[in-house]
Amino acid sequence: MPSESLEAEVREFLVQLMPLEHAPAHLRLAFHDAGTYDARTQTGGAHGTVHLPEEVQRGDNTGWGQPCIELLAEAKASYPTVSWADLVALGGAAAVQKCGGPMIQIGLGRTDASVAAPRNRLPGGYEGASLLKTIFARMGLGPRELVALSGAHTLGYTQRRSFTRHPWAFSNAYFTQLLTQRDRPLEHRHRPPRRPRPPPVRRALRGGRAPLSIRLCRSLPPLDVAWQRSHGSLISAGP
Ligand code: HEM
Repeated sequence: MPSESLEAEVREFLVQLMPLEHAPAHLRLAFHDAGTYDARTQTGGAHGTVHLPEEVQRGDNTGWGQPCIELLAEAKASYPTVSWADLVALGGAAAVQKCGGPMIQIGLGRTDASVAAPRNRLPGGYEGASLLKTIFARMGLGPRELVALSGAHTLGYTQRRSFTRHPWAFSNAYFTQLLTQRDRPLEHRHRPPRRPRPPPVRRALRGGRAPLSIRLCRSLPPLDVAWQRSHGSLISAGP
């Protein structure tokens, strides 16, 4: 089968079988495979290693990572000639389409690696603008690409809050929101229960002084405040 027809068939397979609520995680997974790339040493990158247990179980991939891999494994069983690297990337493209975004043709032919990508190469949410630029420069990407790619956060959730009002609709809401809602950039549609049980960390603290790691965590600002500082300033800075 010609490569373009095969790609279209596998993409359709994924769009049909992908639960809508898993779509953001598929997009994120595609980034987490490709985003380990180091342009200087030519290591990491879109080689499908995110499907290896060692990598998918990392803190970077908590959430729907494993169910995403299970869907990709079904696709692999039906289309064994397609590499894991292509399937992961196609999962990202299918996710955009599932959420009402454009059909993105990505081309097939990525090769698989058998060893997990090096650790600590992906951004986690608390980096400032300058560190984000450094991380993306390592991938061979500039600030414009960093800002454009960050628009992926129009989809999905963090800390039980959706980034935008419609977390399963592909739009430019992420950008308009960051520019207009300066004091509260993330949506708060899924509030925690009114009287939440204290989180385990706070319960553990009742008895005395917290371990250093917990004290450091508590000194961090809420994620949305950190996010506004870094991503908001990047967008406002312009090209
Ligand atoms: C610019 C640097 C980036 C940072 C700091 C960042 C950080 C984060 C964080 C902290 C989360 C929440 C994870 C959680 O709470 O479980 C998240 C979610 C997400 N990220 Fe990123 N990310 C970045 C770039 C990207 C890129 C380039 C893409 C894709 C092109 C992407 C796609 C997503 C998606 C779709 C979600 C939602 C996942 C879900 O709801 O399951 N991110 N990101």
